Amino acid sequence: MIRKSGGEADWDEETLDLENRIMETGYTPEDQEVENPLRPRTFSEYIGQDKVKENLQIFIEAAKSRKESLDHVLLYGPPGLGKTTLAGIVANELGVNLRITSGPAVEKPGDLAALLTNLSPGDVLFIDEVHRLPRTVEEILYPAMEDFALDIITGKGQMAASYHLPLPHFTLVGATTRAGQLSAPLRDRFGVVLRLELYDPRELSKIVMRSARILGIEMEADAALEIASRSRGTPRIANRLLKRVRDFAQVMSEGVVTLQTARIALDRLEIDELGLDQSDRRMLSAMIKHYGGGPVGLETLAAAIGEEAVTIEDVNEPYLMQIGFLTRTPRGRCVTASAYLHLGLPVPGRLREDGGSPEQIRWEEP
Ligand code: ADE
Repeated sequence: MIRKSGGEADWDEETLDLENRIMETGYTPEDQEVENPLRPRTFSEYIGQDKVKENLQIFIEAAKSRKESLDHVLLYGPPGLGKTTLAGIVANELGVNLRITSGPAVEKPGDLAALLTNLSPGDVLFIDEVHRLPRTVEEILYPAMEDFALDIITGKGQMAASYHLPLPHFTLVGATTRAGQLSAPLRDRFGVVLRLELYDPRELSKIVMRSARILGIEMEADAALEIASRSRGTPRIANRLLKRVRDFAQVMSEGVVTLQTARIALDRLEIDELGLDQSDRRMLSAMIKHYGGGPVGLETLAAAIGEEAVTIEDVNEPYLMQIGFLTRTPRGRCVTASAYLHLGLPVPGRLREDGGSPEQIRWEEP
């Protein structure tokens, strides 16, 4: 059984307030739906992340055969790669309940105490954005994770009393886009730490085909690969693009998603062949136009393009770095020669293998 704690208010306002960007990896209310039919329920349905999947399967089997709860699991990596989905699969494969909440939703120690005391033995508690738990809440989480106990102090002065409340053995699955922001004591309490990687287009195209089947969309294989190649390694984006491409197909090609319709739809959505959207291009262009291609600091760049620094770090950068368009140096971010070429701009001499002269370069709007 899956229960989500507290309704809409549970979710991070920041992720819900995002401008309506189709390539945005943040949640939409639809993605959040735990009962979303596109979410795989078992490891056998889950495509990609092979290393993570294989390791989790072993840990689950071992815990089951010892009749113990699974050790606490930390999943980290860019948004939209399936951390919530994996938590659901872990609970399903263990045959236990899944309770879902998020770091910013657990405001007070009492909120966490209420969640923990309502768990049944073996249950999975999923905390999304676990790096955003308030410090006071984190502190009661430590004994809960380590000793399966709540240490609570009530009252003040002479009226103060401390309680040591035993809890059922449970598994905390924490998810974060930024493992570096987790406090050391919290990080150290996760026995299993797994990093999710961006998907390759072959895996994503299998995900698109599977989603099309579930949604009853007639889809040609090369069209699925086209959507996959423009989804910046992220299933959440692939599924979102699939639904928009379906709209075009319905109007333009009697509902069948062909390569041609997919290309037309994605071009209209201004997502290029590599999956870059306007925000990526604006960022790269600003780096080139205003900062000579870098190095440029994150905050400076964020201010220049009017984007949140966390969005740049979590959404734009992982993919731009993966495709070799951006490098991070101790002095700041730098645009690579491939990015100049992709934007149709002359590559500066310092980035050219033939060492051409930078004086030859003139800026043109991409
Ligand atoms: N839908 C979203 N992510 C998926 C995955 N990794 N495998 C299958 N379907 C998915």
